[in-house]
Amino acid sequence: MKVTVVGAGAVGASCAEYIAIKNFASEVVLLDIKEGYAEGKAMDLMQTASLNGFDTKITGSTNDYSKTANSDICVITSGIPRKPGMTREELIGINAGIVKTVSSNLVEHSPNTILIVVSNPMDTMTYLAHKTTGLPKHKIIGMGGALDSARFKYRLAEALEAPISDVDGMVIGGHSDKGMVPLTSHATRNSIKVSEFLSEERLDQVKEDTKVGGATLTKLLGTSAWYAPGAAVSGLVQAIACDQKKMFPCSTLLDGEYGLSDLCIGVPVILGKNGIEKIVNVPLSDAEKQHLAESAEGVKKTNGLLEF
Ligand SMILES: NC(=O)c1ccc[n+]([C@@H]2O[C@H](COP(=O)([O-])OP(=O)(O)OC[C@H]3O[C@@H](n4cnc5c(N)ncnc54)[C@H](O)[C@@H]3O)[C@@H](O)[C@H]2O)c1
Repeated sequence: MKVTVVGAGAVGASCAEYIAIKNFASEVVLLDIKEGYAEGKAMDLMQTASLNGFDTKITGSTNDYSKTANSDICVITSGIPRKPGMTREELIGINAGIVKTVSSNLVEHSPNTILIVVSNPMDTMTYLAHKTTGLPKHKIIGMGGALDSARFKYRLAEALEAPISDVDGMVIGGHSDKGMVPLTSHATRNSIKVSEFLSEERLDQVKEDTKVGGATLTKLLGTSAWYAPGAAVSGLVQAIACDQKKMFPCSTLLDGEYGLSDLCIGVPVILGKNGIEKIVNVPLSDAEKQHLAESAEGVKKTNGLLEF
């Protein structure tokens, strides 16, 4: 199992670290455009191997895609992160060019790979990866919902004063402050609907805190977060590498599902060795349906800024 991670910055390195610590991949290649940067991060991470007890071999490469050849899974984290006050959509000008070049280089060297897109605006970058590479739709996966759902569970546990392991919930829709749709109608504590424990006002607060989860951290850190994003990516990589058939909300190209077409947006999917093995249809409340439709309009508007 060979995994390439493009972008050895905050998210890329965190993702490589979590993949290595979980010890399921034989090799992780980190690639960055900055001279020596990926090699340095790879060496530093390899020096944690004896301390953390993993056997995954991590190597670095400065923009040499021959080192990524025949990767089973490629992750794209290259591109600029947002600064406090910015939206993810504002990153499109620079990141679209990066994602276009990187995705076509990756597929040239690993034609059978499964691609995970992380760079923002993620739903639009996932759509761009489809247009650029022509890979089959089950092989291109956008990571956003796994992170947003982890943030939702964190906020739910906080509101419930419960341990996070008692809580379950999912966020679908676009990976943006306005576009996220936290599914409060399905969220549970030990299989009991959270609405049994929390008032509508408190649940609305949980939803709002979830949607601005990334912006809250960007304000505190001065740049975008990396631990939870890296852990979320490693979860998707592991589900594919170990054929786990796990359900995550992921951005995927829709063709009529949820009444939406010709865009990538977050919906629940089953991940296994073939990538996206199934799109899961979840019943939504009327408010959630409307929110998802508005979210899709927002993603399509951003997609309209792409040049092919
Ligand atoms: N989808 C999500 O849930 C999610 C979560 C967090 C961050 N992000 C996004 O991930 C991206 C990376 O964030 P970060 O905090 O790691 O940023 P970062 O600046 O720490 O790292 C980005 C890295 O990409 C490299 N890079 C730039 N152009 C490249 C190219 N053409 N080829 C190879 N490498 C290149 C840079 O040299 C840098 O090291 C951002 O777009 C950010 O918005 C997405």
